[in-house]
Amino acid sequence: MNNEIQCLGLSEFASLFGCKAEEIPQDCAQLIAENDFRYRVAEGKEYEEILQGVLHKIDSGGFSIAGEERLPNWEKGWGENLEAFLKTKNILELVPKYFRPGLPLRLFQQYILPLDPNFEINWYSVFRLWLFKTYFKSSGAIYEFGCGSGFNLPVLSSLYPDRKVFGLDWSQASVDIVNQMAKACRWNMEGRRFDFFKPDKSFILEPSSIVTTIGALEQTGQKYMDFLDYLVDSKPALVVHAEPTVEWYDKNNPVDEAAIRFHKTRRYWEGFIDKLRQLEKQGRVQVIKTKRSYFGSLYVEGYSQTIWKSV
Ligand SMILES: C[S@@+](CC[C@H](N)C(=O)[O-])C[C@H]1O[C@@H](n2cnc3c(N)ncnc32)[C@H](O)[C@@H]1O
Repeated sequence: MNNEIQCLGLSEFASLFGCKAEEIPQDCAQLIAENDFRYRVAEGKEYEEILQGVLHKIDSGGFSIAGEERLPNWEKGWGENLEAFLKTKNILELVPKYFRPGLPLRLFQQYILPLDPNFEINWYSVFRLWLFKTYFKSSGAIYEFGCGSGFNLPVLSSLYPDRKVFGLDWSQASVDIVNQMAKACRWNMEGRRFDFFKPDKSFILEPSSIVTTIGALEQTGQKYMDFLDYLVDSKPALVVHAEPTVEWYDKNNPVDEAAIRFHKTRRYWEGFIDKLRQLEKQGRVQVIKTKRSYFGSLYVEGYSQTIWKSV
């Protein structure tokens, strides 16, 4: 039994991010030190109950299916965040409701029970800061496609105040949040409607720009090719995806197998990595990094990195 309390420290974060401990910036290291990243690994009966609960929930048909019909749901969800933000002008109102405190999480292919109910959002805050500081240094504008509540954008604007930050989404409520936030906080930020399924080719990216998607392209099933073509032709300096990647799970591990089942049940994206590798063989893109996240929510590892550029 390995049921004692453990704690994620600098070296575990480095291994999860795919970097060396000394490459983690000081402010990220400070966040790691300030937060409570202690947990227990679920074992025995506790593990069985979590696994059976997850499988039951997936198979009971309670989860929505990703795709073109989901726009009204996103409008409703981000509309609620917009309303709350307009009342308070507090960016904490933008934390998406899919961060659900207090649930078991997944780490290194096991279920874990964190001591702090906010373990996941705290982990994500460290990851996001590290990701943005490590890969977003280049000089041009920054574009988050599928930016949702826009809650990643203040971090980008604070880190890079001289750079224009675009938040794009197919939901008008999301676009309104970004523009309201820009106005209220005087950030160099712009919201704009953009649909992965029908990319607007007249929307030209600024030179040396950085593009990111975070848990957004997952929503496209297998209908991401038009967007991928748009990105390849737009030639940003770098494209950084943090998305669940079904191909990297191990189907012989039951915790991973449950995530595969969840991913396929919700019809999240598949095959993107193969498509990128094909484009690489054709000399059209260069894949710079692929890294499985080995951390995620009860159901899915949402933060796997795929980083590439057009050549
Ligand atoms: C899980 S949320 C992630 C939001 C944000 N990136 C984050 O990190 O919280 C998925 C986002 O993808 C957007 N989305 C889904 N399908 C889309 C499409 N066809 N075009 C553009 N955005 C889309 C949704 O509106 C939603 O904002």
